[in-house]
Amino acid sequence: MPLTNGADYVIMNNPSEERNVLKVKLMNKIAKVGTDVLSPNRYEVGTDLQGEDAIMVRSANLHETEFSPSLRAIARCGAGVNNIPLERCTKEGIVVFNTPGANANAVKELAVAALVLASRDILGGVKWVESLQGTENVAKAVEAGKSAFVGHELAGKTLGVIGLGAIGGMVANAAISLGMSVMGYDPYITAKAAWSLAPSVRQASDYGDIFKHCDYITLHVPATPQTKGMINEKTIAEMKAGVRILNLARADLVDATAIKSALESGKVACYVTDFPTDETAGVKGIIAIPHLGASTMESEDHCAVMAAQQLDEFLTCGNIKNSVNFPNVGIPVFDKPRVCVMNKNVPNMLSQITSVFSSQNINIENLANGSKGEVAYTIVETNERANEDILQRLKDIDGVFGIRTFG
Ligand code: 3PG
Repeated sequence: MPLTNGADYVIMNNPSEERNVLKVKLMNKIAKVGTDVLSPNRYEVGTDLQGEDAIMVRSANLHETEFSPSLRAIARCGAGVNNIPLERCTKEGIVVFNTPGANANAVKELAVAALVLASRDILGGVKWVESLQGTENVAKAVEAGKSAFVGHELAGKTLGVIGLGAIGGMVANAAISLGMSVMGYDPYITAKAAWSLAPSVRQASDYGDIFKHCDYITLHVPATPQTKGMINEKTIAEMKAGVRILNLARADLVDATAIKSALESGKVACYVTDFPTDETAGVKGIIAIPHLGASTMESEDHCAVMAAQQLDEFLTCGNIKNSVNFPNVGIPVFDKPRVCVMNKNVPNMLSQITSVFSSQNINIENLANGSKGEVAYTIVETNERANEDILQRLKDIDGVFGIRTFG
């Protein structure tokens, strides 16, 4: 039986605030099926809230946003989190979630379209037909003029997939079904992702292997300081002449000046991007799509539902799933009082936390703990509710920066 008496917050610098209703602020248009997960008995959801406990967001830039002191969590309905100030959030004990895989199918389908658009001048042909409106015998003109739009087939060509997460893996498998030969590279590939790849996807030994051998290259990695400008003058020089490059991941991965000069020289035959910028919009050879990768009804629904479920679980019982700045830690069944502790990931923290309970003869019934980078998170379930003295002593541990109690 879940406990019914809601969450207490005892967060450093914001002590002892109790809420019956949790406020979730929407920073983008979020699919209703997702916000419906947040029951009106417990949540107030809207765009104009003050004192929010959580935020749901898509691509809105939060870097300059001042957060309410009550903010506990941000759920990104999607994959990329470069619009969120992660370091600031971690310092302030704000857990940031994303929804890995929830929009992968939508992006995969756009990648298939991008492969085709990069190979055949369908867009040019459609534009030309539009220009024929009002002329006599369009059908005859079409047959006479179509040879200007002859393209290439994908079957038999080699595709290089950089990044084999949820999206990259699906793109690799789809390309195999289209008859392409596929090479993949991902130094951080998970066992689950590796298992879901079609057996004929070949493993590249490094980026250079992809650059050297592929007719098409598609990017599916996040934008980080390490990946910024990974497609640049030097890496383009390593590629095959006439390579076609797809970027449905983030603008920053590709050096726009380098790609434009490679298009002019013919080294790159086509660049498809889902992230147009001042430098890439309207340039010959660049197919610029207005960030439509995840923009399907299905994907918007999947992302919003997954984000809302993760938020709900965190806000009502402290479990963390799919966080990008805190470890994934949870105790599935919530039927005992809990204390959740955020602390620096340094030696001797867990023993200090547990000894606070044992010093008062409180039995720890369940404990879950994990760390990610510089932070750790612990859920302690006890046979009785932690009193003020316990909470104070937990707060006094050097390195503890957040405590929440439930039940
Ligand atoms: C993502 O990072 O998940 C995609 O780029 C989709 O972004 P969007 O939710 O703003 O469409």
